[in-house]
Amino acid sequence: MSLQEKLEKNVWALLLMTAMVVSVGGIVEIVPLFYLENTIEKLSKEEDSIRPYTALEQEGRDVYVREGCYLCHSQMIRPFRDEKERYGHYSLAAESKFDHPFQWGSKRTGPDIARVGGKYSNEWQIQHLKAPRSLVPESVMPGYPFLAENIIDHTLTERKLRALAAVGVPYTDADFAGAAESVKGKTEMDAVVAYLQVLGTMVKFQEGKDYRE
Ligand code: HEC
Repeated sequence: MSLQEKLEKNVWALLLMTAMVVSVGGIVEIVPLFYLENTIEKLSKEEDSIRPYTALEQEGRDVYVREGCYLCHSQMIRPFRDEKERYGHYSLAAESKFDHPFQWGSKRTGPDIARVGGKYSNEWQIQHLKAPRSLVPESVMPGYPFLAENIIDHTLTERKLRALAAVGVPYTDADFAGAAESVKGKTEMDAVVAYLQVLGTMVKFQEGKDYRE
């Protein structure tokens, strides 16, 4: 009787072997997470101005996630020459260290927007979000004109920041105290644009340095 036949006739042995085989995949995926610190590159003082999002930017990020923008846009520039020439420096893990949930991915119905901050004016962003085809006639992006009418519920903002602080984002008491006031009366459009304009602007890359080392 072969090993396989023996196993197939003994349900406990089969279960044990299955559990062992399946756990290999689990270990391979889970163990690196215990060493997550090592995967975030150390940036020098001049390079690193990575900070938590402001209350308004964070509200914009929530709208971004709610509207499913990530279904068409990745925020992860890969270390290939074509990507670098089109989008800029490849993304670093450090840039997403305060992102919950992060917006990496490979879905690119639209371009990657990891470094879209500062690429266009606020006016361009607003017009584009309201009616993409008024600026880019061949665009397949849907319009989001309602964002300009929706006022942010500022009563929830502080709680959102506190929730993020609970998972390690270093918000301070001053951030909590000022959260509601800083988004009060602002529209979701204001928030999304604030979020888009900060993307990719937090690291000052040094010419010629390889951040993968
Ligand atoms: C159905 C897919 C789709 C969805 C959903 C979508 N987009 Fe787009 N987006 C595109 C495409 C395609 C383009 C390129 C053409 C253009 O500029 O309109 C684009 C372009 C952009 C650009 C300009 C990027 C650049 O570098 O030129 C920004 C910014 C943007 N989208 C933001 C958003 C935001 C914010 C949302 C969610 C509120 C969103 N998109 C949802 C498809 C999409």
